[in-house]
Amino acid sequence: MEERLQKYLARCGIGSRRRCEEYIQDGLVSVDGQVVRELGTKIDPDKQEIFFWGKKVSAQDQVLTTVMLNKPAGYVTTSHDQFGRPNVTQLIDIPGVRLYPVGRLDYQTSGLLILTNDGDLTYRLTHPAHQIPKVYEALIAGEITSEEIRRLEKGVVLDDGFKTSPSEVRLVSMRGGNSRIEITIHEGKNHQVRRMAKAVGHPVLRLKRIQEGELRLGTLKEGEYRVLTEKEIRQLQEAGRKIK
Ligand code: URA
Repeated sequence: MEERLQKYLARCGIGSRRRCEEYIQDGLVSVDGQVVRELGTKIDPDKQEIFFWGKKVSAQDQVLTTVMLNKPAGYVTTSHDQFGRPNVTQLIDIPGVRLYPVGRLDYQTSGLLILTNDGDLTYRLTHPAHQIPKVYEALIAGEITSEEIRRLEKGVVLDDGFKTSPSEVRLVSMRGGNSRIEITIHEGKNHQVRRMAKAVGHPVLRLKRIQEGELRLGTLKEGEYRVLTEKEIRQLQEAGRKIK
């Protein structure tokens, strides 16, 4: 049966539909040997061969698998990197299963990253209509004042004019002239925490994501991952449930 190419790719676990549209526009997808950049393209997976990034994809025989990884700094989460830097998927080794990151973490950011081949879960967790809360631990330059914390919490204007929605900020400690804060945001603009901290004059020195929704990084070591329990997956699905 025919379906839209981006919908099929999402069903194969490649990423959210939106992310798959980007992949199509970037020329990473081919159908029967021809690169397809047209978003409206319909395909018939029973009759055609679909390739993503040079590998054949299939929605059949997919065992849905979701893991959380403690991403080390120095890994990219995007599937193609012009500098050839290490990719987080190289840290996952589950025979016969190919997983894709849910959303992005910057190259230098560490911490909690969910990877899955469940396109529906990815769609729910990354849809802008319902961003689940994400908690970051940030070491920032300088001593932050309570007034600056209030500004971060109320929303700040970023370098491109975007005003952030309310966040929660907790001062963890101040040491050696720098501050450690925990910040919870409910949206996911590019480099958002780094840009927010900069907007109040305290550039981020180190950034780590420690929680998404109910899911906490806990004692998972850097570079290690574990398969999520059914309960954890249900909680994530619930968190993304409000999407129409
Ligand atoms: N905010 C950032 O600035 N970077 C990340 O990787 C995640 C959130």
